[in-house]
Amino acid sequence: MKIILPNSIFITFLIIATRVSPEYTRPNPRPLLLRQHVRPDSHAEQVHISLAGKGYMRISWITSDERVKAVVEYGKTSGEYEAYAKGERSISYSYFLYRSGAIHHVKIGPLEPSTVYYYRCGGSGPEFSFRTPPSAFPIEFAVAGDLGQTEWTASTLAHVGAKDYDVFLLPGDLSYADTQQPLWDSFARLVEPYASSRPWMVTQGNHDVESFPIIYPHGFKAYNARWLMPHQESRSTSNLYYSFDVAGAHIIMLGSYAEYNVNSDQYKWLQADLERVNRSETPWIFVLIHAPWYNSNLAHMGEGEGMRKAMEEMLYNARVDIVFAGHVHAYERFTRVYDNKADPCGPVHITIGDGGNREGLAMLFASPTPSVSLYREPSFGHGRLRVHNSTHAHWSWHRNNDSDSLQADEIWLESLKSSLTCKEIEKTSKSPKDEL
Ligand SMILES: [Fe+2]
Repeated sequence: MKIILPNSIFITFLIIATRVSPEYTRPNPRPLLLRQHVRPDSHAEQVHISLAGKGYMRISWITSDERVKAVVEYGKTSGEYEAYAKGERSISYSYFLYRSGAIHHVKIGPLEPSTVYYYRCGGSGPEFSFRTPPSAFPIEFAVAGDLGQTEWTASTLAHVGAKDYDVFLLPGDLSYADTQQPLWDSFARLVEPYASSRPWMVTQGNHDVESFPIIYPHGFKAYNARWLMPHQESRSTSNLYYSFDVAGAHIIMLGSYAEYNVNSDQYKWLQADLERVNRSETPWIFVLIHAPWYNSNLAHMGEGEGMRKAMEEMLYNARVDIVFAGHVHAYERFTRVYDNKADPCGPVHITIGDGGNREGLAMLFASPTPSVSLYREPSFGHGRLRVHNSTHAHWSWHRNNDSDSLQADEIWLESLKSSLTCKEIEKTSKSPKDEL
């Protein structure tokens, strides 16, 4: 981030910047990591998996050889594949002079929960394995946005992978290819060891748009082709917003770069999706967006305001528990908030856009710290949300301390469905008319 300011203002910003552990020195930027294609053309590469409806997993991969069939063999014992599934489709796309390999998507299942499956793509090549998420609590999510592909990204991913988890959530900005299409390939190779073994559920960021006037006016060519998410399974007409249920949590991935006003398809879909939530089956609701609705960092300040104004009331009335955002390359945790005020019935907002991309950290926070902002720090890292049961979850943020991962922030959360404080407020705020 570059800010050109008069010297006096710049120095003031430096003085006010951030609540940071005094013993921690800011890390230097680290170089890009480019991963080359090293497998035979007919073998799967860039393998990643995603949840695709109850009991199903989508396997996505690419081959340079377009004749390779979209088939996946799988089973519970390594090398013994008792099941077989055919692809929904194999596609490739062009972007100016670039033409992608064949992108295959195959849905496999029904699968058993908490079970390791071994699989092979396209009938030959390396074997991969993944573990399905549990069908009930506890479940653990790893969360990191704005990943990119630098040595910091590799460090964040190594920390994510060093401790077990069930599902990875990514609130936008994946590859930072920024129209350089081979970087999408390189990114998928970098994340493959993680994304082929646990489901990666992503939503889009501004770096994923890649629109170009007249030629690619709608953008998302690479993103939609490569990172197919379960939008059809959640009755969405767009890959840019969707939802899924996993082990008692309903997770909604919203599109900060899709239309969101009251007449938009996304707005209507969200309304219908929230109405369908059965809070007995999924007592927790988590939402992911890219541009944060609450942000006291000077980077991207106010950019999520239009979407907040359009959709915040809906999320508040649905008693969404947490809203995760990316975009700002720093960590910030807010209290429960609604309409810019602390509110025991509002979601906790968390910015976790500090995965490690090439743009570096967003160092400057506004002063004074807003009363609703409880912890903020410009460091790379990742978050973990462990949902223990229907009432309690533990959130922690893990800073990349060079090669180590250090837990720097944590909080216990009570689900709004079970919160007596929220219920009390609901009771007192009901007008006499409501009681009739
Ligand atoms: Fe972004």
